[in-house]
Amino acid sequence: MAYRFKTDLKHSDVTPKSVWLNRRSLVFGAGGAVIAGSIAGSASGAPIPDIQPSAFSTDEEPNSLEDITSYNNFYEFGTGKDDPKDNASALTTSPWTIKVDGDVGKPGDYAYEDVIKGMTMEERIYRLRCVEAWSMIIPWVGFPLADFLARVEPGSGAKYVAFETLVRPEEMVGQRGGRRLLDWPYREGLRLDEAMHPLTILAVGLYGEDMPNQNGAPIRLVVPWKYGFKSIKSIVRISLTSEMPETTWNMQAPREYGFYSNVNPEVDHPRWSQATERRIGAGLFARRMDTMMFNGYGDEVADMYAGMDLATNY
Ligand code: MTE
Repeated sequence: MAYRFKTDLKHSDVTPKSVWLNRRSLVFGAGGAVIAGSIAGSASGAPIPDIQPSAFSTDEEPNSLEDITSYNNFYEFGTGKDDPKDNASALTTSPWTIKVDGDVGKPGDYAYEDVIKGMTMEERIYRLRCVEAWSMIIPWVGFPLADFLARVEPGSGAKYVAFETLVRPEEMVGQRGGRRLLDWPYREGLRLDEAMHPLTILAVGLYGEDMPNQNGAPIRLVVPWKYGFKSIKSIVRISLTSEMPETTWNMQAPREYGFYSNVNPEVDHPRWSQATERRIGAGLFARRMDTMMFNGYGDEVADMYAGMDLATNY
């Protein structure tokens, strides 16, 4: 499926509220907005004002709100695809603070409200390709990570950006006792140029409203040309580092998950093919789709990997 840039965007090109409500009423019946709020965990479902359209959005039809909020990976709430929907309502997302540290001019503890203050919110309708070979189209709302990094002023020695998710076993059932599935906190990282790339966003919502808990409230990373596990949820720490940071899935299984994790149909996972993908919501009999190099974002990002062997730097 071809990736097309939208041109001549007008504000009205943002997925209109009536369409969201319509989708909701189709999915949830009358009074959908209210029911959707409860399905979406404790997320307030508050509309985000002044969302601008983006030329980076795909024209492909987004998945339904129900697909996006009921088929999730968020191991802090369990390993089943519906565990996050069932368990993430326990997460308190206000107050929320992000610690910024490392080689940075303006380190500190930033309140969520200060992180988003002055940011232009954009709708970014992106493909999400999970390393497990399924995919969705998600209408995120957020702003370029570059805009936040510019504000905190990376130092001259900063070459990477490391991210961490919240550790709060009282609210995150997957972090408790015998269910310790990963070495918490969940960690991810990007090279600085990847972090500064205009496609890379900090997302604070989807379908025009605050982020549902199961999707990584209140703020998460979205890096659309990489496998979904790079898009770390519920971020509480951003560090600028000179060394390549440790990342959760790479630490867990280095042969299976590399640091770069760019979507690449030619490099199979040791246990399954990455050549095709299953689009969630396409129906039981839908054909698998061909997976695109860099998830279809090659025109925008391939330059960053010029001269690099993508088979060994997986
Ligand atoms: N972030 C944290 N903290 N914990 C996780 O388990 N799962 C990742 C990523 N971010 C994960 C995470 C994986 S494997 C994917 S595919 C995406 O989140 C899924 O995002 P979604 O549930 O919003 O579709």
